Amino acid sequence: MHKSIVVFEVAGGNDKGEDGHRRDTMPIVNAIKDKGWNAEVIYFESDRANEIYDTVANNFDGYISRVNPGHIPGGEKIYFEMLSRLSKEAGLVGMSTPEEMMAYGAKDALVKLNGTDLVPEDTAAYYDVESLHEIFPKTLSYGERVLKQNRGSTGSGIWRVQLQDRKLAKSVKPGEALPLDTKLKCTEAVDNHTEVRELGDFMKFCEQYIVGDNGMLVDMRFMPRIVEGEVRILLVGPHPVFVVHKKPAAGGDNFSATLFSGAKYTYDKPEAWQDLIDMFAEARPTIATKLGEDNNIPLIWTADFMLDTAEDGSDTYVLGEINCSCVGFTSELDMGIQQLVAEEAIKRCEEAAATA
Ligand SMILES: Nc1ncnc2c1ncn2[C@@H]1O[C@H](COP(=O)(O)OP(=O)(O)O)[C@@H](O)[C@H]1O
Ligand SMILES: [Mg+2]
Repeated sequence: MHKSIVVFEVAGGNDKGEDGHRRDTMPIVNAIKDKGWNAEVIYFESDRANEIYDTVANNFDGYISRVNPGHIPGGEKIYFEMLSRLSKEAGLVGMSTPEEMMAYGAKDALVKLNGTDLVPEDTAAYYDVESLHEIFPKTLSYGERVLKQNRGSTGSGIWRVQLQDRKLAKSVKPGEALPLDTKLKCTEAVDNHTEVRELGDFMKFCEQYIVGDNGMLVDMRFMPRIVEGEVRILLVGPHPVFVVHKKPAAGGDNFSATLFSGAKYTYDKPEAWQDLIDMFAEARPTIATKLGEDNNIPLIWTADFMLDTAEDGSDTYVLGEINCSCVGFTSELDMGIQQLVAEEAIKRCEEAAATA
C-alpha cells in the first residue's frame, strides 16, 4: 500500500477559489494528511491522460474525483476511460467510478428503483422518441406529470405538465391516450415560467432531450406536496451529514426547488428529519444493489426527496434524484465534513488492500 490518495480536478471553471482549487478540495487533502496518509491534487487534461494514468497507477491507492463531467474540455470520455482503467487495471479504489457516477447520477436511477417504496410505481423513462410519442399521451391521462431530461442540473428541461382544461382533466379516462391537440400547461423548473402548448407540439419539442449522448426523458407523477419543499440529504458514504430543506417560491404553478427560481434554503441537522433518515438508511442497501457496482455507494452524494401522504395519513417520502459527481459542501466546511470524507476514503482503501 502507498497510503496515498489522489484528488482529480480540472483547471479553470467557475467553481474554483483563489488557489485554483475547488474550495472543498484542499480541506479534503489536508484532512487526509492529518490522518497520516498522503494526498495530492492532479489536474486532469485530456491530452495528458496516459501520462497521468502511469503516475497515478504506480503511486496511489485510490482516487477522489472532484470533476464536474460537464466541465471537462474535450468531453468526459477520455477522463472516464482513465478512471475505469485506474480501478479495473491498476486496482485503485474509485471514488466514484464512472459507472457509479452514471448509474447514481442519471435521472433513470428512479426507474431502476421502480418496485421499491422510493418511487411511485408509474415512473418511466423514454430512450427513443417513438416511446415518448406512444406512451406519454397515456401516462398524462392519469394526472399531472413531470418530464425530466437527463442532461443539465438546474431545472432546465424539467417540465411540470398539466391539462389546461380542468374539466377535461377530471373526465379523462385513465389509460386512454389524449388527443394530440390537447392543450397543456407546461412549467419549466429552471425559472417556473409556464407555456401553453399542444400535446403533439410539446412532444416534438421534447425530442431534443432524448436524442444524443445520454439522452433520455423520465416521466414521473407530479408530487403536489413539492410546495412544502424538497428535502436534500447530503451523505458521506453511508453517513447523513446534513439536510437542506428547499422551499419553492410561493404562487402560481411554481414547483422548482432551484435557487435561481427563488426557492428558499434552510440547513438542518439530520436529526430534524429523523423519519426520513431512518427510511433512507433502511433503503440504502437496496439502492446500492440496484445502482452500485459491487454494491458500492458514492463517497460524497445527495438524495433529494419530496413529501407524500400514505393511506393512513402519515408522511412518506418520494425520491426525486440522486447527485454524486462533484457534490460540493463549501458552505459547510466548518461542520468538519472533510474529516468524515478523509476517514471514509482511507477506510475504503484499507479495506480494498485487505481483500486484495
Ligand atoms: N415528480 C415531481 N413532482 C414535483 N416536483 C418535482 C418532481 N420532480 C422534480 N420536481 C421539481 O423540479 C425540480 C428540478 O427537478 P430535478 O429532478 O431535481 O432536476 P435537476 O437535475 O434539474 O435538479 C426539483 O427541485 C423539484 O422542485
Ligand atoms: Mg435537483
